[in-house]
Amino acid sequence: MKFNQTIVEIITKRRSVRTYDTKKDVELDKIKIIQDAMNEEKTKSFRFDIATFGELKKRKERLGTYGFIKGAELFMVGIINEGSSDRKNQSINFGRTFERIILKVTDLGLGTCWMVSTFKRKQLAQKISLEDNEHFAIASPLGYSALKKRPIEKIMRRIPKSDQRKPWEDLFFLGDFTTPLVREDTGEYGIALEMLRLSPSAANTQPWRISKQNDGYDLYVMKDNRGERHAIDCNYNDVGIAMCHFELTAEELGLTGEWKMDSLKNNFLEYNLEYISTWKTT
Ligand SMILES: Cc1cc2nc3c(=O)[nH]c(=O)nc-3n(C[C@H](O)[C@H](O)[C@H](O)COP(=O)(O)O)c2cc1C
Repeated sequence: MKFNQTIVEIITKRRSVRTYDTKKDVELDKIKIIQDAMNEEKTKSFRFDIATFGELKKRKERLGTYGFIKGAELFMVGIINEGSSDRKNQSINFGRTFERIILKVTDLGLGTCWMVSTFKRKQLAQKISLEDNEHFAIASPLGYSALKKRPIEKIMRRIPKSDQRKPWEDLFFLGDFTTPLVREDTGEYGIALEMLRLSPSAANTQPWRISKQNDGYDLYVMKDNRGERHAIDCNYNDVGIAMCHFELTAEELGLTGEWKMDSLKNNFLEYNLEYISTWKTT
């Protein structure tokens, strides 16, 4: 996927947007670019689409987002194949892929907001045709951000502390999980780690942890039951988002490597951490 701005610029600019400009429609050429990106990212396990709600406004009906989203007529939706034998990897790859689309949309100057719970599933699902084995997993409004934010949007940001992320020393470690990783010791990878730290996550829980090893960077997830309640497992989905930020930044900086699952690596059950993958530097 190609971007006009740098990944670092796009990640730094992105914020969840919940109030949209009703006077400024998304241009058709931008919708086409997003639809093409969605088709490009389609897999056997999931796909994406755009649902339109323009006619609701004419009929003065309310959009089913419990008032959390206002002014958006377009919604991106993520659809998964049910009954996947590997829900963990389905969720990781779903997060990794949909975040790439979110960053592409951000690059086009448009606002988005990952939503896994604050929308009426049935109302949105009526707008897209689902196959028998398909399940509607997530949605994101799509449009131009309104200049003025509503009080509810400010509250929605204040409660999960959306403008903040955990400090480096809580997220990144050297070797085991007792020694914090010093930023100065990470070279250019410090930028990739910082971009990972800016990842959005459900309720801003930031479940990802990194341990720097001789062969690269081990990625772990702090699992909780909350993640499992949804069609996609939110903890694993959040880890996928973090992988997306890290790998796109590394690529941009010319840092060669790739994610590899190393079967010899352990979970750290004492810290409730499950091993996911290692970014092996090459
Ligand atoms: C998987 C996922 C699910 C989310 N679900 C919702 C949701 O249902 N409703 C909502 O208003 N925000 C939702 N969010 C947005 C997060 O609250 C937001 O990303 C986080 O607080 C960080 O803020 P930021 O995106 O502005 O950086 C979700 C985010 C993610 C990644």
